[in-house]
Amino acid sequence: MKIFIDTADIDEIKEACSWGVIDGATTNPSLIRRAVERRGGKVSMEEYIRQILEVVPGPVSLEVTATDVQGMVRQARILNEKFGRYGEVVVKIPVNPSLDFAGSNDFDGLKAIRVLENEGIATNATLIMTPEQALLAAKAGATYASPFAGRIDDYIRSRLGLKPKIDFQKGDYFDSDLLLKIGENRIYKIINEKNGSLQSLYMDEDVRNLRSLVYDNGVYSGVDLLAKVLRIYRNYGFKTEIIASSIRNARQVREVAELGVHIATLPFHVIKQMVRHPKTVEGMRIFTADTVPSYKKIFE
Ligand code: E4P
Repeated sequence: MKIFIDTADIDEIKEACSWGVIDGATTNPSLIRRAVERRGGKVSMEEYIRQILEVVPGPVSLEVTATDVQGMVRQARILNEKFGRYGEVVVKIPVNPSLDFAGSNDFDGLKAIRVLENEGIATNATLIMTPEQALLAAKAGATYASPFAGRIDDYIRSRLGLKPKIDFQKGDYFDSDLLLKIGENRIYKIINEKNGSLQSLYMDEDVRNLRSLVYDNGVYSGVDLLAKVLRIYRNYGFKTEIIASSIRNARQVREVAELGVHIATLPFHVIKQMVRHPKTVEGMRIFTADTVPSYKKIFE
């Protein structure tokens, strides 16, 4: 699995690249905003992006801000032209750029991906929240597709009534297995209590409500979203590479790696989390204390 760094902070990018484990980077407008704010708003943007491209040893995703096909294609060409000479530019295109549920621009992202891929400009279909969107992104020819695991976990938790920053923190692991077990047990209980006909239980509102709480239309966690996208891509041999995105903790990284996704894009602090374990520190202390002088002498 390739590891991309999910940040626009040049200091984080430089440090993470020095660890020797980074294959690429992903940015988005919010990450760029955070990087600019950390520098007190004093950033010469083109120079800043050039630095990112020069440091990263692989593809760097830069997102368009337009929401219509002509605008996105125009911006993608500009990004490619301005920065392509400094590194490997990938243009991030929202799979569906509509800003409301009226859906007037629903297909503009896919159309833009098709145009850009035909021109040889690599694309990353972003904000993918369902396997169906991922299927469409692959059909449109996207080079990469980014399903957002953490945001789906957030969505399921919020539908359960859990409040971010109060009931759970952004980096908390979402125990979807536990939720599924609780949900199933409750459903069995209702089924036993009501003891109705198959049809009446199938239509029962309580049963259906519980089912819809533990699933987002059949997807029960962010990692499950990744698993489903991977299965679909493998079924049909799509070339589009999956970037597990919106990853919030080390356990999610492990789970998407176990699935076999091509790439995971990880925040700086998550990569740091991955290398730590209390027993490793303890082991280091013991080995350091146990080193006999004659062994140390070898290195003098
Ligand atoms: C990556 O491409 C995404 O922009 C990013 O992973 C989103 O992560 P977040 O949901 O933690 O903001």
